[in-house]
Amino acid sequence: MKIVFEDVYKRYKIGKVDVNALNGISLTINKGEFVCIAGPSGSGKTTLLNLIGCLDSSTTGNIYFDDYNITNAKEKVLEKIRKEKIGFIFQSFNLIETLNVFENIEYPSIGKKVNKKELYERIENFLKEIEITELKKRFPNELSGGQKQRVAIARAFVNQPQIILADEPTANLDSATANKVISLMKRINKEQNTSLIFSTHDYEIMNMADRIIRIHDGKVKGEEIKNG
Ligand SMILES: Nc1ncnc2c1ncn2[C@@H]1O[C@H](COP(=O)(O)OP(=O)(O)OP(=O)(O)O)[C@@H](O)[C@H]1O
Ligand SMILES: [Mg+2]
Repeated sequence: MKIVFEDVYKRYKIGKVDVNALNGISLTINKGEFVCIAGPSGSGKTTLLNLIGCLDSSTTGNIYFDDYNITNAKEKVLEKIRKEKIGFIFQSFNLIETLNVFENIEYPSIGKKVNKKELYERIENFLKEIEITELKKRFPNELSGGQKQRVAIARAFVNQPQIILADEPTANLDSATANKVISLMKRINKEQNTSLIFSTHDYEIMNMADRIIRIHDGKVKGEEIKNG
């Protein structure tokens, strides 16, 4: 899915004060691209990811998925897009405390027509690749931050979405683990043409991306295209 932002503004109101989190963002992210959104704290990275993820709506401006303008779409339509096309890795993980690791990863597939055998195989393979197989029966409160982060990553990929959005996906990982996890994500990006859109401060990730979009005060301040 191609994503197009056309002069997008996002304004939050706190009491009488307006916070302009996004100030006229225009950008295009092509299907299968690996893009990093970089910028200082408060520059609007999470806000941007939330809009792409249909978790929030813009104040003004248009957002297109392929040629479909999602700006005024009904919540039901947005929910369908979220469920079918997008995988999220949140800054705060958002794991379900009452489900164990395996169940957390399986969760986005519940209620969907999926082949359970294939799904379980996919989950087992993923657990192995990110080295958390032995943790699969544990609950989130029994995991370290980096382990939770890897569970959140596996959960985002389980339904093979077209777009993966990740907010600082390696913030809690040591550099060796981060490298492994990002290499795996990059491989999936290449094999399945999954778009990866990450907010990050991590130069190692930026080096692996196709493109870096720099934002500042809610505006695009520049971009850098990588050779691969
Ligand atoms: N729900 C909200 N209500 C009010 N203001 C908000 C809200 N969410 C974000 N903001 C403000 O919008 C601006 C952009 O925030 P955002 O979370 O997008 O930044 P960020 O680039 O993700 O920062 P960080 O690197 O610290 O995660 C900030 O000034 C922030 O205080
Ligand atoms: Mg953020």
